Amino acid sequence: APATLYGLQVSQEPFGLVVCRRRGGRVLLNTTVAPLFFTDQFLQISTSLPSHFISGLGEHLTPLFLDTAWTRVTLWNRDMAPAPHVNLYGSHPFYLVMEDDGSAHGVFLLNSNAMDVLLQPSPALTWRTTGGILDFYIFLGPDPKSVVRQYLDVVGFPFMPPYWGLGFHLCRWGYSSTDITRQVVANMTAARFPLDVQWNDLDYADAKRDFTFNKKSFKDYPEMVRDFHSRGLRYIMIVDAGISSSGPPGTYKPYDEGLKRGVFIRNATGQPLIGKVWPGPTAFPDFTNPETHEWWHDMVKDFHEQVPFDGMWLDMNEPSNFVEGSQDGCPNNNLEHPPYVPGVFGGRLQAGTICASSQQYLSSHYNLHSLALLRVRGKRPFIISRSTFAGHGRYAGHWTGDVGSDWQQLYYSIPEVLLFNLFGVPLVGADICGFLGDTDEELCVRWTQLGAFYPFMRNHNDHGTRVTARSPFAFSPPAQAAMRNALRLRYSLLPFLYTLFHRAHSAGQTVARPLFLEFPTDPNTWAVDRQLLWGGGLLVTPVLEAGQTKVSGYFPAGTWYSLTGVGAPALLWHLVPIPASHQPPGAVCGKGQWILLPAPLDTINVHVRAGHILPLQEPAFSTAQSRGKGMALVVALTLDGFARGELFWDDGESWETFERGDYTELLFLASNVSTGSCWQGLGRAPGGPGTSVSVLRVPVSLPMWEQFVISWS
Ligand SMILES: *[C@@H]1O[C@H](CO)[C@@H](O)[C@H](O)[C@H]1NC(C)=O
Ligand SMILES: *[C@@H]1O[C@H](CO)[C@@H](O)[C@H](O)[C@H]1NC(C)=O
Ligand SMILES: *[C@@H]1O[C@H](CO)[C@@H](O)[C@H](O)[C@H]1NC(C)=O
Ligand SMILES: *[C@@H]1O[C@H](CO)[C@@H](O)[C@H](O)[C@H]1NC(C)=O
Repeated sequence: APATLYGLQVSQEPFGLVVCRRRGGRVLLNTTVAPLFFTDQFLQISTSLPSHFISGLGEHLTPLFLDTAWTRVTLWNRDMAPAPHVNLYGSHPFYLVMEDDGSAHGVFLLNSNAMDVLLQPSPALTWRTTGGILDFYIFLGPDPKSVVRQYLDVVGFPFMPPYWGLGFHLCRWGYSSTDITRQVVANMTAARFPLDVQWNDLDYADAKRDFTFNKKSFKDYPEMVRDFHSRGLRYIMIVDAGISSSGPPGTYKPYDEGLKRGVFIRNATGQPLIGKVWPGPTAFPDFTNPETHEWWHDMVKDFHEQVPFDGMWLDMNEPSNFVEGSQDGCPNNNLEHPPYVPGVFGGRLQAGTICASSQQYLSSHYNLHSLALLRVRGKRPFIISRSTFAGHGRYAGHWTGDVGSDWQQLYYSIPEVLLFNLFGVPLVGADICGFLGDTDEELCVRWTQLGAFYPFMRNHNDHGTRVTARSPFAFSPPAQAAMRNALRLRYSLLPFLYTLFHRAHSAGQTVARPLFLEFPTDPNTWAVDRQLLWGGGLLVTPVLEAGQTKVSGYFPAGTWYSLTGVGAPALLWHLVPIPASHQPPGAVCGKGQWILLPAPLDTINVHVRAGHILPLQEPAFSTAQSRGKGMALVVALTLDGFARGELFWDDGESWETFERGDYTELLFLASNVSTGSCWQGLGRAPGGPGTSVSVLRVPVSLPMWEQFVISWS
């Protein structure tokens, strides 16, 4: 490049690279701090870090910023109920560092081998990988949002989910028949809860095999799905990675066809490697083989012709295996037993998965294990996958796996959701109320309130739990009312959420956003991971502890208007400023501060940031209904009377509407309002005495500030 933001020095002795910012000279990377190792199956490179504030390196159960006091972070996809310090379902070898002055940079190591990343207090970082090459990308920012966008320039911008995918999803392992599944939907309707997507776990399948359904308990399965469609609902079912291999030939097409077309991962003797998953003995499709895509597509298509499902839920695709390696064990070779084994849970690469030396089309499983690969065509897809790798967000979303039903996991879900947004997988959420173990009412209410602000909102739980114990309609009337409020709040905000997804898809932005991304020069925001933003304009401060009726939240400089807090009228169609009693003494919408907010069980605190206009729509019992309702704007003015916002709108499900130009984009600017003191000046529109808003349809490329004015009289 003719002019770079960085300077580069190459040192010969000791060998290493130094990367610094041209402006100010800050050293971002210095790999001369320790020797480089470059050997077969062991590559190690170290660098100093300019600060302790390092985020990223998923997937793990961690706070938003990692601990640099001798922390080993292991990357190797693994089926594992989320617990601290263990490698989980996905691998994202990308980190972001905040520098002293609020600048940020990022580093991506494009390498899919099992690896450790060692964080050291000096501060420094060591990459230690068991193969591949050292293929680094360094992102100069200089602000953290740009770092994320630059990373997504490399791995791909997120896909655009269908509108209905942002509604409420309900699932459970243990809906044992179509009758029960239909009852759940009927009970949701009777209890007046919104619901967009009903799901089934493996219960639907015949002997737990993919692409089959139980002809007894699910005999009217296709009719059930069609009935849901006729009520404006959508339907998704689970599909596992393992393909049952034990039936007699001629009885199970996915295996017979797969065998014929050579799509399975092979063992040392060149036969399909057989492990064990839910249906018993299983083979594993090799998604690095182009023929596997054709075969998978054919299987999906066949099944879709029988059961017109709307999306797919991909599970066990780490791949997970209930026997270690294979039913016949694994060979004794240097891929199974490399000279260095990263800190993987179980102590061996084959633990919980298939043999590392098994053969795939592209290479050995040793090199490919952590890669998730999907092909999507035709319609706008809705796919949620447990296993992920860098770039996953281009194709699909993620749920955070088998989380426990406890308060600690409720908290951890926030950094997980925020980190996956930094990884370019904005469509992410944890199972609301927790997946494993029994929940209690208070936890489930709080989780539903926070879950209303997960980009992907699904309530799902394990078969061991009490039968109807998780569905919103199973709780006491006050708990139901609180959950209903949270759901209605989300449904009201869906046009805003959808617009954020559009910005993620078209411009590499985040949807659920950590505060530091929006306020990088306020170091108090950096470690905040008990709150989250939607875009730049909506701050969510959930209660994450039992028995609390107050919650402390950090409010960066500016004015924040309460959307829901105590004193705010019912829902959304008004706003009130933060009540005077919550203003810190002498505050004049000035510097950032911690504020203690009332938070009774029926309330989640949500604040709109001055300067933002949010598009809303009247909530209903599904997006099919709500999309026909009236829309409105929340206009939160700054002291000097400005606000801006936007709305992206299309039919909600056609393929590539943005790319084809088949959409409307509205930009809003409010100005010329006399505001008075900083805690006032919030308007509501349209409607309300003396207000009128004119909304302009405009080409996206024009600058907003100059062109568009909402006249406000
Ligand atoms: C890089 O690290 C080496 C070893 O610690 C140190 O001697 C050198 O001064 C550093 N370079 C820069 C530019 O900071
Ligand atoms: C639906 O509600 C009815 C009536 O309360 C209850 O008997 C039934 O168990 C519920 N079904 C499910 C699957 O939750
Ligand atoms: C490979 O898998 C086949 C089953 O497909 C099995 O019979 C054979 O023993 C396995 N070979 C090795 C070396 O494990
Ligand atoms: C806004 O106010 C300025 C100054 O009072 C005035 O010149 C301008 O016409 C106003 N614009 C609109 C759109 O009302």
